[in-house]
Amino acid sequence: MIILGIETSCDETAAAVVLKDKNGVRILSNVVASSATLQAKYGGIIPEQAAREQIKSIIPVIEESLQAAGIRPQDLDAVAVTYGPGLIGSLLVGVETAKTLAIIWHKPLIPINHLLGHFYANWITDTLTHRSTDIPVFPCIGLLVSGGHTDLVLFTNHGKYKYLGGTRDDAAGECFDKCARLLGLPYPGGPQISKLAKEGNPDKFKLPIPMRDSKDLDFSYSGLKAAVARIVDSGQVTGDSEKANLSSSIEETIAESLIEKVVKAIQIYKVEQIIVAGGVAANKKLVDRLQLTVDSMNPKIKLHIPPASLCTDNGAMIASAAFFIDKTISPLDLQANPNLSLQSL
Ligand code: KG4
Ligand code: ZN
Repeated sequence: MIILGIETSCDETAAAVVLKDKNGVRILSNVVASSATLQAKYGGIIPEQAAREQIKSIIPVIEESLQAAGIRPQDLDAVAVTYGPGLIGSLLVGVETAKTLAIIWHKPLIPINHLLGHFYANWITDTLTHRSTDIPVFPCIGLLVSGGHTDLVLFTNHGKYKYLGGTRDDAAGECFDKCARLLGLPYPGGPQISKLAKEGNPDKFKLPIPMRDSKDLDFSYSGLKAAVARIVDSGQVTGDSEKANLSSSIEETIAESLIEKVVKAIQIYKVEQIIVAGGVAANKKLVDRLQLTVDSMNPKIKLHIPPASLCTDNGAMIASAAFFIDKTISPLDLQANPNLSLQSL
């Protein structure tokens, strides 16, 4: 089985050709064009501009993905596409392109929820790292940490899960991005804060760990952003070393708040498999600390985290998801849904 996966939910235009055989899910090509340099210039995403960039890039990116894989359209078994959630203008570019290609190539069309798609980066066999040497086994706890979402679910099978909790306001990635902006750092903020944090001391600025005492499995990050804004406004962050110290506190606090809820979920549901996904899963401090924590809880617990390049938006995770959630749709019936969530599945 060979699937072309198309992803255009935000500011990345991505297409990948992915193969599934007896050895698992393997990437034949994975092309990502990002308009991040434009976003960096304007300090964030301007939806209309992101959609315009998607239109410019979509056909060259798909062509490049087929060429790099050495695959002709007739060799494909299906086309998979992200149909939500995301920015409507960006989503429409991928969805309408995928619908058109499915019709003219006479291929089945598989719509994928972007959030679920993120988790399926963990099923890509040829990029398994030392951290996870094999694919996840059900049941498993899933933590999704992206720019727009922070969700905790309990998977019992492919596409089948119980929603455990989510953010009540900002997402973890959004918090990284907003705090970075307060510190005068460019978009996307996560990697910038992480880079600066390496030089900083997390004990110089004390930040409250959000939702620490709440009994549920929810998250909240708007209070943390407000606390960072108060510190910046008070004039304490004047030079590079203070910026590094505050970055270090921000990174530690976000990582700690995520880990605490994963630990709580493991204790409640007694599972031994954890899958993490989304752009923030590229954060080394988060993944190293989560690994240490679960190892100390129970050495049998397996933590699955994709390599950093597959944590952020890409087409390979969308194609990977399509192998397991094989729900085809007639192209004329598919509509982009910017408000899709994990709760609405
Ligand atoms: O999953 P993703 O690529 O796009 C969405 O679906 O939202 O996630 C993007 C988010 C951004 O907020 C970005 O700042 C964050 O992931 N991010 C990181 C890192 N790399 C990307 N956050 C912390 N540390 C990183 N290394
Ligand atoms: Zn994403």
